[in-house]
Order: sequence, then structure tokens, then C-alpha cells
Amino acid sequence: MPFESSPSAEPPQLDSWTMEGPPGAETVLNGRRYLYFAGTGYLGLQGHPALVEAAKAAADRFGIHTATTRSGFGTSPPVREVERRAAQFFGSESALYLVSGYAGNFAIAAALAPAVDVVLIDELAHDCLRESIRWLDRLQRPPLTFRHRDVDAVRQLLETEVSPGQRPLLMTDGIFPVSGNVAPVVDYLKVLAPFPGALLLVDDAHGVGAVGEHGRGTLELAGVPAQRINRALEEPTNESNDGPAAGPRVFLSATLSKAFGGHGGIIPGSAAFLDRVRQLSGWFRGASAPTAAVAAATAKGLEIVESDPQLRLRLAENVATLRHRLRALGLDVEPSPSPVVGLRLDSAERMQRVQQRLVSAGIVIAYARDYAGAGPAGMLRIAVFATHTRPMIDRLVDCLGQALQASGPG
Ligand SMILES: Cc1ncc(COP(=O)(O)O)c(C=O)c1O
Repeated sequence: MPFESSPSAEPPQLDSWTMEGPPGAETVLNGRRYLYFAGTGYLGLQGHPALVEAAKAAADRFGIHTATTRSGFGTSPPVREVERRAAQFFGSESALYLVSGYAGNFAIAAALAPAVDVVLIDELAHDCLRESIRWLDRLQRPPLTFRHRDVDAVRQLLETEVSPGQRPLLMTDGIFPVSGNVAPVVDYLKVLAPFPGALLLVDDAHGVGAVGEHGRGTLELAGVPAQRINRALEEPTNESNDGPAAGPRVFLSATLSKAFGGHGGIIPGSAAFLDRVRQLSGWFRGASAPTAAVAAATAKGLEIVESDPQLRLRLAENVATLRHRLRALGLDVEPSPSPVVGLRLDSAERMQRVQQRLVSAGIVIAYARDYAGAGPAGMLRIAVFATHTRPMIDRLVDCLGQALQASGPG
């Protein structure tokens, strides 16, 4: 049995975890090896030997850092390689690699600012989307927040709050980080369609690499073609219904720090749109380029995810197994391709007790509070990876069932 089990051991304080090895199905935290169902390494690539070797080789060759920005001399060959591979992966003309996915939303917002009059945002959208609103300097009113994933609420806001001629931008996560809920992208596009100039921005940090036939994320699940994503406003979208009546423009912000095993934000799109982002956002001109070693590992992650679809299939199998087994425990878990399952129990104290019992049994799941839509009472968050085995998932679900019983309601 690879896991230490000492039910009497006090779990560590929740703010004192230190990860002492790469995240994976088993992960060393605070000196102990745990069965790990937390974090975002959905394909288990963060410690993959090929990524680590790529980083070492790049550090040997390029040093730690170019010590200048992308607009000057800061672009190293591995950074270019990430952009080349990302464009290939996402089926886009080009791609822009940034130090973080969080920042990617700011850069996109800066590029869209001249074309947005009103923002509608999901109440549980990630902080980075909410913060990116600051870059939309022509807004004619404060952002309109709508109930989580509530398409009718969006329709009503559009009908009652958006004046003729105003151009709305709807912002949402693709997969929500704690609940694992998937945004109803198809329905959003339908309700936005009657509004000329309407835009949709999806932050799909948790979807890209993990879901969709080619791993292109929530937009691929929704059937949005690659040619429609991240194009400059004056460009045609290459769709048959193009022209002024074409559907809403779709924008995607993503990260390579989760499923792809590397690090940094990625904006795949047309060359014209990315030029706009470079011109209008300070992140290209003013932030140091991603480091060469990290970029080399990230490029390798992209290569592996593209060349080994089995990884995604294994993840999909594990997602289905986990969700099925949780439903068998009587939990309200919907069938979904999302590798994140959020559980809300009747009180914060009970959720903490459940988490601590699992930790004592050698299993880590997260308890998130006041973060990314978890709300003040919080949520238990389970993340499943391609690298979890069936016995690992069984053990998690068995221990969770016992912890739920032992913790009682209330
Ligand atoms: C929805 C979402 N967007 C963006 C980010 C930030 O991405 P990055 O870690 O690449 O900055 C996160 C968090 O990790 C996230 O959960």
C-alpha cells in the first residue's frame, strides 16, 4: 500500500502546506506522501521526465532569463516554440504566450476596450475576469452581474439594461475552478446573437487541454470553430453566415499552467488580433518574457498533449468513473466532462471535518472558501487526473463515504 495511513494524526493547518515534489496522483506535502485529488495538473504532466529534461536543457543553453520584455530582445527560442505549438494545437493562425493566464485576460480586455459599452459577468467568474474590467475604459455603466450560468437572467439583462446600439461583452469562465461547472456557451451565443457587436469572452484555464475532442476546451465542447476565436473586429470570421449579421465574436483566454503541465498564459488567435493585443496591452511591452526553461517545458507539454490523445481519454474515463461513483454515494453530481467536482455540504464546519478526515487517511482534496465562486461557506473540491488509477479513485470515494457518515449533517 503506497499511502501512509494514520487516522489519529492531526492534519496540518490549512495555510501551512508546502508541496515538496511535483503534483501528481501521489504528491508529497509537508513531508508526507498523499493521494492527491487537488490542484489542476489534470493530465499529470508537471513532473513528466520529458518536461523536466526540456527545462534543464534550456536552462543550460539560455540561462535563467532574457532579462527584458517581449517588445525588446526578450523573446527566446523556447518562447517562440510555445507560440508555434500552441497555434498548431488550437488551430489558430498564431498565438501569444504571456507570463500568466491571469494576465491574459487583462491583455484581451485592453484589446477589446474600444469595442465594448456594457459588460455582463457571471457572479462566480474568476477574479482575473472581474479585474480585467478595469481595462475596459469606455464602459457606459458599471458591470452587470448575472446569476451563475443563468441564461434567462442574461436575456433579461440584455433586454432591459442594454440600449440599442450598445455593444455588450459577456464574461464567463469556461469550466469554473471550484464547482467544475461548465458555462452554457451555446445558449449565451444564442441570446447575444440579436445584439450587433456583441462579444463573448471565455476564460478557459481549466478546460483547455482537458476537455473537447482535440483538447481545445469548453469552446470546442460548444462547437465553436477555431476560426471564430480571437479575431480582430474588422476581420471576417470565415463562417458561412459572415457579415454584419454574423454571430457574436468569441474570445478565449487560457493557461498552459494546468493540463499542459507547463506554465504561463496563452492567447491563440489571428495575427491581426494578437497584434492588437501587443499594441494595446502593457503586458507585452512592460513585463519580462516567460523564462526560457519554463517555456521549453511548456512547449514539450503542448507536444505531448497533442501527440498523445490517450491522456485525454484516460482523463475522460476517470472523470466518468469518479462522477458515477460519487452519485452512487447519493451526492448531487451531474454527468459532465469536467475534471473538477465541487461538493457543497450543509455547513462549512462539516466540509472542514470531511476534508480533515480524508487528510488523516492520507488523501488530499481541497476545501475552498471565498475563492472563485466557492462562496463564504466554501466548497469541497475534488480534481481527478489522467494518472489516477481505478483503485485510487475507489479509495477516495470509499473514504469520502465514511467521512460523510462520520461527520453527520450540520
Ligand atoms: C479560471 C482561471 N483563470 C485564470 C487563472 C490564472 O491562470 P495562471 O495561473 O496561468 O495565471 C486561474 C488560476 O489558476 C483560474 O482558475
